[in-house]
Amino acid sequence: MEKELTKANCIVSSDISISGEPTIGAFERALEIAKERQPTCILGIGGGSPLDVAKLVAAFLDNTQTVHRTFGIGLLASRNCHLVCVPTTSGTGSEVSPNAILLDEEAQLKKGVISPHLVPDATFVDPELTRTVPPDITAYTGLDALTHCIEAYTNAFSHPLVDLYAIRGIELATQHLVTAVQDGANIEARTGMSLASLYGGLCLGPVNTAAVHALAYPLGGEFHIAHGLSNAVLLPAVFRFNAQASPLRHAAVAIALGAEIGTNDMETALRGVQRLRTLSIECGVLLDLGHYGIRRSDVPHLAEVAMTVTRLLKNNPRVLQQEDVEQLYLQSFA
Ligand SMILES: [Fe+2]
Repeated sequence: MEKELTKANCIVSSDISISGEPTIGAFERALEIAKERQPTCILGIGGGSPLDVAKLVAAFLDNTQTVHRTFGIGLLASRNCHLVCVPTTSGTGSEVSPNAILLDEEAQLKKGVISPHLVPDATFVDPELTRTVPPDITAYTGLDALTHCIEAYTNAFSHPLVDLYAIRGIELATQHLVTAVQDGANIEARTGMSLASLYGGLCLGPVNTAAVHALAYPLGGEFHIAHGLSNAVLLPAVFRFNAQASPLRHAAVAIALGAEIGTNDMETALRGVQRLRTLSIECGVLLDLGHYGIRRSDVPHLAEVAMTVTRLLKNNPRVLQQEDVEQLYLQSFA
């Protein structure tokens, strides 16, 4: 970090336009361009995908590893380039997380590089930048942020400090998401969702996500369903399944989602399932895998692929067998 930081030696990720899904190929092209410029800083501006690519470009500028060798937890050797992230959506929390997700086109699966070297040096979160995000993207990204917080709070490795961010993130998304979807210019709602996304991102490093994300990856990788949308469709079934393992924690989530307290924790937790469904429906999300081109006959294959996402399944509060995963997919059809 010895070179002086100037406009000339700083690459902005909008210089390297990332549209559509962040594939390994798109990342490698971006890295090639960046290497020609020898920047001292990468500034990532955009939604989760451009930020993830910016984070990886910064880390791989002087790294002899191939990206394939770094998929997993803690395998990235280093980062020696400044990295600044500015999110323009409220969802992934990539601006503060150690995660970067790329689509492996050959395997048709999204794969993650998880490393403390991917946490940006600085982040600027300005809700004004999210004001023009269209309603559907606001819904999908917001539901992704909500899922990060829920999967952190109910995680097998939950932590009291992370719980604070997680439960507050759930409350903020409950309070502001529908308004942000229906009235994008409402800056109070946008601010609430920016914060929910940031809190969700802060949960991703120390605790990370679990079965919802593991089951969502094949939906994104093979069927190209938006990440947050995949999570939203799977979340009610997985939440119901996991509630058996920790009714008290799921009841706390349900209350944060606005559910009435029931006669016992399990009853309260199950009211949370209905709150999740209502929230998604109010955001215009159709909770039916069939609507997004998935057939029931695809389920065994989807479950087989999801079972390979062990880095997330190990975090789930309830152990999942392949038959369980198949049932969860089937329960996510209308
Ligand atoms: Fe996510």
